[in-house]
Amino acid sequence: MRPSATIFALLFPLAAVAQYSMVKEYAGSTFFDDWNFYGHADNLTHGNTNFLSAKDASKKQLAFVNANGNAIIKVDNSSTLKFPNNRDSIRINTKDRFTIGSVWVVDMLHMPYGCSVWPAFWSSALSWPEGGEIDTMEAVNKDTMAHMGLHSDPALQGNASTIDTSALGRPTANYSSDGCAITSFFEPQTIIFNIALCGDYAGSSSSFYPSCTGVCYQDWVLGNPSVYDTAYFEVQHLRVYGIPGGFTVISSGASRLLRASPSFLVFFTSALAFLLSVWV
Ligand SMILES: *[C@@H]1O[C@H](CO)[C@@H](O)[C@H](O)[C@H]1NC(C)=O
Ligand SMILES: *[C@@H]1O[C@H](CO)[C@@H](O)[C@H](O)[C@H]1NC(C)=O
Ligand SMILES: *[C@@H]1O[C@H](CO)[C@@H](O)[C@H](O)[C@H]1NC(C)=O
Ligand SMILES: *[C@@H]1O[C@H](CO)[C@@H](O)[C@H](O)[C@H]1NC(C)=O
Repeated sequence: MRPSATIFALLFPLAAVAQYSMVKEYAGSTFFDDWNFYGHADNLTHGNTNFLSAKDASKKQLAFVNANGNAIIKVDNSSTLKFPNNRDSIRINTKDRFTIGSVWVVDMLHMPYGCSVWPAFWSSALSWPEGGEIDTMEAVNKDTMAHMGLHSDPALQGNASTIDTSALGRPTANYSSDGCAITSFFEPQTIIFNIALCGDYAGSSSSFYPSCTGVCYQDWVLGNPSVYDTAYFEVQHLRVYGIPGGFTVISSGASRLLRASPSFLVFFTSALAFLLSVWV
């Protein structure tokens, strides 16, 4: 099993615009240039993870560009740990933030999975949770959600500097704006990859026991490190698109917040599935 997916996250304007231009790309040898590394314990979701600094991540080879030019973001699968230590992993967020109205495309060849593993591709505003958190994709343990992605459709890959959102097809989920003032709840977002272990979601008995056995921390995090051989992202690229001439990128350090167009879509695509979440 090698789940993979091309994911389109769209922060979609009300006046439907189909044609967007690329404003930012994270890919190849420079993939990791413009991210913040969390650099401390998982104090947000209480997982058994140390999220490394950029320096340690590079030194320990948990965040690197592989020989194929793809970004690898992974859990330590070589150290045998003793109680009460936690396992090294990665959480990174884009230094830039992207406004409501932008389109995000991430092309992944591999998603992390396995007992105790909790990967997420998501985003957050600077002010959390008030400024909004968008969980584009997450899964825990042997969650069947990981099957949503499989291999991407080569026709939805490519190198386009523009994207035509009207060509993305029919949504499988659509969260309507009826009754929800989206602009009051979502601010510009920083995009995040992370892999937590156990914690509030993967470690809760209702998520853990349907597919896994034992005790999340003692038997898995402290157990044989090879169980984490599959706990990695392999990312071909992450691209952000915006309306031509529009205001999409807020560079790191900028404090300006923009409350803009009120709707949100996420597409998941693969050879087997075409999935879409929509906040409109
Ligand atoms: C987590 O720890 C960091 C570093 O000590 C701190 O800046 C941050 O506010 C903490 N976050 C939470 C949610 O406790
Ligand atoms: C594809 O994108 C890469 C950068 O990601 C660039 O170097 C290359 O020239 C592009 N190829 C085409 C055909 O546009
Ligand atoms: C989502 O639902 C709303 C309200 O039901 C509808 O107006 C809109 O067209 C839907 N969006 C898509 C992309 O299907
Ligand atoms: C860690 O996992 C990777 C695959 O993700 C594998 O290539 C490597 O051999 C593993 N390392 C160890 C020490 O088992």
